[in-house]
Amino acid sequence: MELTHPRLSGPRTAVVWAALRRELDRHQGQSLTVLDAGGGTGGFAVPLAEAGHRVTVVDASPDALAALTRRAAEAGVADRVRALQGDADALAGYVEPASVDLVLCHSVLDVVDDPAGVVAAVAAALRPGGAASVLVASKAAAVLHRAITGQLAAAAELLADPDGRVAGRDTVRRRYDADSAAALLRAAGLDVVEIHGVRVIADLLPAAVADADPHAVVELELAAAAHPPYRDIAAQLHLFARRP
Ligand SMILES: C[S@@+](CC[C@H](N)C(=O)[O-])C[C@H]1O[C@@H](n2cnc3c(N)ncnc32)[C@H](O)[C@@H]1O
Repeated sequence: MELTHPRLSGPRTAVVWAALRRELDRHQGQSLTVLDAGGGTGGFAVPLAEAGHRVTVVDASPDALAALTRRAAEAGVADRVRALQGDADALAGYVEPASVDLVLCHSVLDVVDDPAGVVAAVAAALRPGGAASVLVASKAAAVLHRAITGQLAAAAELLADPDGRVAGRDTVRRRYDADSAAALLRAAGLDVVEIHGVRVIADLLPAAVADADPHAVVELELAAAAHPPYRDIAAQLHLFARRP
């Protein structure tokens, strides 16, 4: 499957796929070694394998890995997808250090015990010049979402909490802003090359509006993604980084 396939161009992931495509285009024709840390059921891993890359997914969940394995088989790319149960902060047990061209770490730093340990493992897995695609939840978007849905106490709590979470009833352990996420990556020795907002407007639109012209929504997402303040109120932040 081409990585321009419409299935990959929905407004929720268009900005991430655009960044990945730019990286893959730099290596035109090459089959890259990709590691998806916490890759789950393979929403990114399987299309990358379909595009000819060799993808190792390390995930803590056996159920997610079983779904990934089924999905890879259905797509005819089982030979290019390796599914391994393990911890994202111990990637050295699954891939050679400094061997990977591209590491994905999407929606994982929000939930793990030790985000700095995971980022250190991601950096160590990358070959010099290799790239990391990191997706994290945005604190600002979570505050705004609660506020506009009338959860004012939760919005205030989340705003005041250094980790950007609501005690006892939150789906994630921490949220980030562009500076805190970039600092986490830089502390592991990675160069942060680009920061984009993901789902700047896609989550704000009523479905009827979004469905009426999905192409226009994607175009607006792509246009707004790099620019503060739009970037900074997006539901997620995408950081593209490189190992020097
Ligand atoms: C929100 S899902 C994201 C899945 C995928 N990266 C995506 O973007 O669709 C988080 C994933 O991280 C995995 N996970 C959580 N903690 C982990 C850990 N310490 N090591 C490896 N995987 C972990 C979960 O099993 C889950 O599949």
